[in-house]
Amino acid sequence: MATPSLPFSFIFFFLTLFTCSTPTLSKKSTYIIHVSHSHKPATFASAHEWYSSILHSLTSNSNTSTKSKPNILYTYSHSATGFAARISTTHANKLRRLPFVLSVVPDQMVELTTTHTPGFLGLTDKSGLWPRTSYGSDIIIGVVDSGIWPESVSFHDQGFSDVPANWRGFCEVGPDFPASSCNKKIIGARFFYEGYETKVGRMNETKSARDENGHGTHCASTAGGSAVRNAGYHRYAFGEARGVALMARIAVYKVFWGKSARGTIADAIAAIGQAIEDGVHVLSLSISTSGSNSDYYNDQLAIASFRAMQKGILVLASAGNTGRQGSFTVKNISPWMLTVAASSIDRQFSAQILLGDGRVIKGSTLSDFRKLKNNSTSYSLLITGQAAGSTFCIAAGGIGMVLVDRARLVENLEPLPFVIPGITVTHTDGNHIKSYINSTTYPVASIVFKGTIIGPATPSAPRLAPFSSRGPNKITPEILTAPGVNILAAWTGASGPTALDIDTRRVGYNILSGTSMSCPHVSGLGALLRKAHPSWSSASIKSAIMTTSYNHDNAGNNLIDLSTGRQSSPFVHGSGHIDPEKAVDPGLVYDLDTNDYVAFLCSIGYNSTTIEQFVQDPSMINCRANNLSSPGDLNYPSFSVVFKSLKDTITYTRVLKNVGSSVRAVYQVRVSAPENVRVDVFPTLLLFSEYQQTLSYNISFTSVDKVQTPTSNGLSISFGSIEWTDGSHHVRSPITAYWPNKQGVQEDLVATI
Ligand SMILES: *[C@@H]1O[C@H](CO)[C@@H](O)[C@H](O)[C@H]1NC(C)=O
Ligand SMILES: *[C@@H]1O[C@H](CO)[C@@H](O)[C@H](O)[C@H]1NC(C)=O
Ligand SMILES: *[C@@H]1O[C@H](CO)[C@@H](O)[C@H](O)[C@H]1NC(C)=O
Ligand SMILES: *[C@@H]1O[C@H](CO)[C@@H](O)[C@H](O)[C@H]1NC(C)=O
Ligand SMILES: *[C@@H]1O[C@H](CO)[C@@H](O)[C@H](O)[C@H]1NC(C)=O
Ligand SMILES: *[C@@H]1O[C@H](CO)[C@@H](O)[C@H](O)[C@H]1NC(C)=O
Ligand SMILES: *[C@@H]1O[C@H](CO)[C@@H](O)[C@H](O)[C@H]1NC(C)=O
Ligand SMILES: *[C@@H]1O[C@H](CO)[C@@H](O)[C@H](O)[C@H]1NC(C)=O
Repeated sequence: MATPSLPFSFIFFFLTLFTCSTPTLSKKSTYIIHVSHSHKPATFASAHEWYSSILHSLTSNSNTSTKSKPNILYTYSHSATGFAARISTTHANKLRRLPFVLSVVPDQMVELTTTHTPGFLGLTDKSGLWPRTSYGSDIIIGVVDSGIWPESVSFHDQGFSDVPANWRGFCEVGPDFPASSCNKKIIGARFFYEGYETKVGRMNETKSARDENGHGTHCASTAGGSAVRNAGYHRYAFGEARGVALMARIAVYKVFWGKSARGTIADAIAAIGQAIEDGVHVLSLSISTSGSNSDYYNDQLAIASFRAMQKGILVLASAGNTGRQGSFTVKNISPWMLTVAASSIDRQFSAQILLGDGRVIKGSTLSDFRKLKNNSTSYSLLITGQAAGSTFCIAAGGIGMVLVDRARLVENLEPLPFVIPGITVTHTDGNHIKSYINSTTYPVASIVFKGTIIGPATPSAPRLAPFSSRGPNKITPEILTAPGVNILAAWTGASGPTALDIDTRRVGYNILSGTSMSCPHVSGLGALLRKAHPSWSSASIKSAIMTTSYNHDNAGNNLIDLSTGRQSSPFVHGSGHIDPEKAVDPGLVYDLDTNDYVAFLCSIGYNSTTIEQFVQDPSMINCRANNLSSPGDLNYPSFSVVFKSLKDTITYTRVLKNVGSSVRAVYQVRVSAPENVRVDVFPTLLLFSEYQQTLSYNISFTSVDKVQTPTSNGLSISFGSIEWTDGSHHVRSPITAYWPNKQGVQEDLVATI
């Protein structure tokens, strides 16, 4: 039957993770230097002059050529207090010994971590959050990323009013980025490359905010893209594309360069500082530092976001995509940031491979099936080996390809934008295909493309993505989840959908997965809530989003973790999945201000030198007077309990603020105690009689004296929750309890809240 005129090549390989190593070009490199301003001599007119003189003093008594003189790359005042400079290790060590220098840290690389999603999130035009907030109009979302493709229709400004009068930013032009690239939607565009050039070498890219990679365009349009009819990647996910806050304004801060999107933290801090100075309301960071940060003061993104929080800016960041590496992988965990994990939505991109022996195997694809249709012709099969490298193999002369993923479940398969007709199948199914090829002299197969499947025909959603990074974290275990799997959004015109040089295709929209994609959804929601409640603190907005989130899928079952196929835990899904229409009216919030966060930093043993990196004003730091009895006493919308023994009792105090529409409200507590923990709450009723009134309660956790069985990674853990309700509002917080065990995990977890 088959006409094996063309060999149908099967290219088997496994997805490999790429890491970017950078050549050391000189002994000098970029360092970020945090400085205490209480020591600044009055003789210097500006901070920059003072920093220059500090650097000059390092070199004045040695013989150095002018060429190798240290130079200042950035002066930081909004996102940190200090500067970035290109200096030698010897000079870095000299700086560390100066009394007014708080810390000297080497620059490091930062990493980049929808048509259907607003509907899945329950946002509608008819009523609720969208019409109530005029779709987030006049709220400014700052996006620190790989820039923007300004010609994308997602950034049209039809129907927009003038740029908000209080906006202080501007549109920085470049050879490929004329002033007309900005409009009433894209109201700011800046770029930062000093750290990148120092680390990587003089760059070949045009210096402008134009996006060559696509990531920044995708994130910006997800958070604040305008409404666009008939958007889709080929025919997949076709429909009206809209950002979550479609009338919000976008300010772009480019720090990732080239098609491979590489950037450094020195540039990112400069970008965040600019965003703070410009007056953004929401900061969307689909980025993380490479490597793990053992402490908040080593995490430059945590420091910069602290400054943003102090200015009332809501900071959202992605949890990272290293979930497959197991527990403790979550990034961006400081309590003043809102950390976002990734989950699936009720949409799949489906295909089947029909083997010559009659077997049908399910898979996933983003192949352009308009050109393919269902082709009844079967082609011969060939194993071409485990080709490491190019994910989108064009080579080997085949007319199609099958990629065997390491995923075990069909719903975990990543649909890929294959350059030739292609399909991704699971590891097990890959073995079936291989044994079929072995079993016959002329193996044949054909591919059937099913296109986009939405709704009841798909597995229940949301489910937690296997790549989404996991808690707990040694410092703060809470993360929150939002859609982040297979999200369609606008794409750059500089790269094909695979972002490979050989891919000459150009598409207006592309489908990507990652916590990078889930973060801007919550950024869009943050913009809508900022518009609905202009006077609320960032902590109140974060509390509203967390306490109203849900923990079940659209079939009513507990959330599933796709990495195990079993029930998910707060280490994976945090507080739960965002529910925008509930978040706008949470009833009660757990509020926090800068003093609370400073007390929190005191409670984890940080000294004033360390804390001064976060708060510029040293007079705000007094750990003796303003401290917490334990980090778990931070007025945070979740509870993490670390028992020191099997008979331990731990008590926390929490304060709730009435933000409901009814002035008088009676809230009653409901507890779902973690296994082997007794939970006592006092009082069990809270009677509010004023708007914005605050009332406190105490909650004690007592370990039931019983030997705990350690689960994986040596921890003994159990989960529960507490909920305050007046009948219509449900203010829910997850509880996580830990017990000590032989591996000494207790030591590591002392700082956990
Ligand atoms: C600098 O170089 C000059 C001439 O080579 C030499 O006389 C002087 O001692 C050097 N100074 C230092 C601080 O090394
Ligand atoms: C710029 O291009 C040259 C030649 O292709 C290459 O050697 C160099 O590494 C590039 N620079 C950067 C920063 O990528
Ligand atoms: C391909 O065939 C399947 C049934 O095998 C059908 O459901 C689907 O609509 C067809 N696709 C196209 C593009 O014709
Ligand atoms: C099937 O694919 C082959 C190769 O691309 C093409 O020559 C043939 O016309 C196709 N058949 C149909 C029915 O589309
Ligand atoms: C197929 O045959 C080759 C060579 O005989 C063997 O190495 C391989 O393990 C076989 N693969 C499967 C999946 O049976
Ligand atoms: C403050 O804490 C840091 C980090 O633990 C430490 O390196 C530094 O020596 C401490 N400073 C003082 C004055 O104790
Ligand atoms: C603040 O409280 C923590 C315990 O929560 C304690 O370890 C620390 O020493 C306290 N700091 C001061 C300055 O009292
Ligand atoms: C909570 O406990 C503290 C310390 O025991 C006590 O001072 C406070 O009055 C209690 N608060 C409530 C609401 O019972």
